[in-house]
Amino acid sequence: MSTDTPSSDKTATTSLPVIGRSATRIDGPLKVSGVARYSSDFHFPGMLYAVPVCARIASGTIQSIDTAAAAAMPGVQKIYTRENIGTFYRVPKSSKAQIDERRPPLEDDEVRYYGQYVAMVVADTFEQATAAADKVVATYAGTKAPDVRMKLSPDEKPETDTERGDPDKAFSKAAVTVDHVYTTPPETHNPIELHASVALWDGERFTLYETSQAIMNHRAVMAKMLGVPQENLRVITEYLGSGFGGKLWPWPHALLAAAAARDLHRPIKLVVTRQMMFHNVGHRTNTQQRVRLGAGKDGKLVSLQQDFIQHSSRLDDTKEDCGEATGFLYSTPNLRVTSAFARRDIAPNTSMRGPGAVPGLYAVESAMDELAIALKMDPVELRLINEPEIDESKNIPFSSRHLKECLTTGAETFGWSKRNPAVGSMRDKGVILGWGMAACSWIASRADATASVMINADGSVRVASGTQDIGTGTYTMLAQMVSELIGVDMDKVKVVIGDSSLPAGPFSGGSMATASLIPAVAEASREAIEQLLKSASESDAAFAKIDADELAFTDGRVHRKNESADRGRRFEDVLAAARLGHVEGSGKAKGTMNDKHPKYSSHSYGAHFVEVSWEPAIAQLRVRRVVSVIDAGKIINPMTGRNQIEGAVTMGIGMALFEETRYDARNGMAINSNLADYVMVTHADAPDIDVVFLDYPDTKLNEMGARGIGEIGIAGLAAAVTAAVHHATGIRVRDLPVHVEDLLVSKVA
Ligand code: MOS
Repeated sequence: MSTDTPSSDKTATTSLPVIGRSATRIDGPLKVSGVARYSSDFHFPGMLYAVPVCARIASGTIQSIDTAAAAAMPGVQKIYTRENIGTFYRVPKSSKAQIDERRPPLEDDEVRYYGQYVAMVVADTFEQATAAADKVVATYAGTKAPDVRMKLSPDEKPETDTERGDPDKAFSKAAVTVDHVYTTPPETHNPIELHASVALWDGERFTLYETSQAIMNHRAVMAKMLGVPQENLRVITEYLGSGFGGKLWPWPHALLAAAAARDLHRPIKLVVTRQMMFHNVGHRTNTQQRVRLGAGKDGKLVSLQQDFIQHSSRLDDTKEDCGEATGFLYSTPNLRVTSAFARRDIAPNTSMRGPGAVPGLYAVESAMDELAIALKMDPVELRLINEPEIDESKNIPFSSRHLKECLTTGAETFGWSKRNPAVGSMRDKGVILGWGMAACSWIASRADATASVMINADGSVRVASGTQDIGTGTYTMLAQMVSELIGVDMDKVKVVIGDSSLPAGPFSGGSMATASLIPAVAEASREAIEQLLKSASESDAAFAKIDADELAFTDGRVHRKNESADRGRRFEDVLAAARLGHVEGSGKAKGTMNDKHPKYSSHSYGAHFVEVSWEPAIAQLRVRRVVSVIDAGKIINPMTGRNQIEGAVTMGIGMALFEETRYDARNGMAINSNLADYVMVTHADAPDIDVVFLDYPDTKLNEMGARGIGEIGIAGLAAAVTAAVHHATGIRVRDLPVHVEDLLVSKVA
């Protein structure tokens, strides 16, 4: 597609750009052949297995824990409770180290959520530990059913997150208004790979094999909570079977495994079960959002208000920031977003793919669809006429925003002009069709990053950074980046990540890893090339008496600036002449995510167009077709990039139609805590997905202009589905997910 900002990559030295070309995952063969080692695949001599004991109540106080029967069972080595686990410390709130469950495991006798760890069995085998954990008997006092009210208590006051103008007055005077409440349920991350820790202690140092989306943060948190210097901790995550945000920050099981390893001087493996995954490693919390929109008869927004409440645990306050995109998505002089925590008897919540913006956009974009209907206006047109010139919430320009083109390209690709807006009016061979759309946005930011690039005498190039690949393609993207920057084939690039002893790399979250790594890897490559040119000038007879600054490096060859590359020398020969094993450069880039006063408002944008079919006779709803147009900056690898959007769209369909964690009202137990009852979209449910990337480089964010693509695809998708459902059935579902019972009252036949 066209570009408005030419890709001005001054560091690119190769004539064969690899950036922007599709490449298959370099780790693909390792994964499909079983060679790639996931954290729970690590085995060590003398290793023991730990299985936690979980509370079966939501709220109460532990009176006693009877371990006698369990301790007498075969293979049991030790049973830990608060009495003998030792001391864990806390992470100060002011620390940059991130954790969503601040209270260490087994710290006190209070049970604050169902499933909370109250003890742990360590045994010779996993089966023995599991059997013994079943026989540990805890008794409680003051047990009560969990308080899960959404209504705020008098002491729970909403806060204003962003405000401009006088939204109340503008709303009361608006020609056309909508005012509705939307809710989203608790959702549970269900990556295929379970959370796991394999902990080793050598008397002084820990080596921790973890399922972490952020190994550097994991090391920082574990050092503080275990009370050891950071240098004595090494965190390794070679491969991840995804995480969706659930593996961003450490969870209590990692501490329990490490504590047992230190106490017993034996390697400890602890794999969290699927059932525990529904309680002990975070979830996307439920939200209730009131959205009020006011517009003139011309469709111009005059007032936008979003007031949301979220559940959170009693002790922690992880914000599900539903208003993240609200302030800048549309132009309106009057706007207010408020938020409130309803602290209840639930486990700590955490980020889940597109935290905040995803439930937030479901509500705001649904309200926009309802406003379009009230105005008798096309919903695409409504968005187009409310396009802002600048970020009106911060009064700063956008770094690169092409939402209008997403909307128009999407409409054209989908065939939107053929839409008859009347409910139930479109048919295809006896089924009723519904067409809906929504816009979306997701943050574009960078975390701090460092990286090292080594140009080796054997003709290979090594790039290293203490980051990890959540499965999105970080290995491959780094290989592509270095292939382009140094001018060697991708198969000559060795990518080393997933080890906290490497130069500190970014976390795999917020769709930021790629954008964060680019400047660090580019600087490291430049420095390595400078080193190479210097050693050519100093020690290679072919370049005797030629200054380093008269030399250039193109496609892996050192040559005189005034001569073509093919007259130069391959870097292997230059290094051999200088008797060097390698030259190395390091790069360091400060992130943008904590900028207090950013110069630009940086976000990705997109538009989704969805077709559903509805067969009233058999009450069957299907999502048949999705077109997603994504403005996410320069796309480094269109193949893996498209794969990200397809996955996110698929997950968005799940959010719209299936995903919902249900808790027992008596004790807070997740009653659908398995992959059969927690319904997610599978391949059989996935429709035809057409992904279009606009591919405008956002060079304000980094020199390659890449933003991020892990999350933007799920944002807005549920609103597009429910808009399509409304178009087909006349039923507006404001409480996700859509249940087929909701649609049985449809009058469309
Ligand atoms: Mo994503 S929820 O930032 O892993």
